Amino acid sequence: MSDILVHTEDGVTTLTFNRPDKKNSITAAMYAALADALAATEADPAVRCVVFQGHEAIFSAGNDIADFLNAPPATQDSPVFRFLRGIALFPKPVIAAVCGPAVGIGTTLLFHCDLVYAGDNAAFSMPFANLGLCPEAASSLLVPQMLGYHRAAEALLLGEPFMAEAALEVGLVNRVLPPLEAAGYAQAVARKLAAKPLSSLIETKRLMKKGQTEQVLAQVAEEGASFGRMLREPAAKEAFTAFMERRKPDFSKV
Ligand code: COA
Repeated sequence: MSDILVHTEDGVTTLTFNRPDKKNSITAAMYAALADALAATEADPAVRCVVFQGHEAIFSAGNDIADFLNAPPATQDSPVFRFLRGIALFPKPVIAAVCGPAVGIGTTLLFHCDLVYAGDNAAFSMPFANLGLCPEAASSLLVPQMLGYHRAAEALLLGEPFMAEAALEVGLVNRVLPPLEAAGYAQAVARKLAAKPLSSLIETKRLMKKGQTEQVLAQVAEEGASFGRMLREPAAKEAFTAFMERRKPDFSKV
């Protein structure tokens, strides 16, 4: 079965991270599937809304670390950047249902969603500084905007996880639910949206995002250049090797 499930019903396309044995971590092939699905969904007038989901115990462990080590994204045309530009520019409403850990891009993609519903077991983290990396997906812009600078510094410099209730308090999450109810709730909201005129949904979203898109794309590109360089440097290599060897990284020599 595919690592990304794409299912369209009643005007809603649902994209499911489906790699549970690797905690739904995302490979280059999965980014490519996501980018293609977003493009197809954007072009299909019958689809009015997209839902991202994982499973009840895991949303996503972020980028696949073996990919980071063996095949880091080389250019701005790499699947991950295609996906990031696709979601940043996506004109129709995007909903996420998040349960369990949402690591790295598992959290940063949520800043591009319009509505987020979380299980009470959701744990959000952006541990880029713990991995010798820097923020991606315009999170260095969007996280301080939403959380305020000091809470953003806790999340991005310390890389500390925060739970669903804290995410609700800062406005990253719309509602916290029992994990078994989050996906169903997101689907019900998606169907409410899908019953509305597409032109109103698109124009409302465009007006709310107006003025920021250029800045978001510029930040994605600048972060991407730094991220790509840092992936190849000793600190990140040590962090990824330590993860694979199930030990703590030693940054004393980098
Ligand atoms: N990339 C590749 N494989 C990953 C992965 C990732 N990001 N996250 C988890 N996995 C794999 C593990 O290597 C393990 O594989 P194995 O069974 O073949 O040994 C399997 O998924 C289960 O992971 P495990 O760590 O044992 O699960 P857990 O329930 O104890 O912890 C997480 C879950 C998500 C908290 C933990 O896996 C984690 O922190 N992952 C790394 C997150 C990360 O740093 N992502 C990069 C962000 S930029």
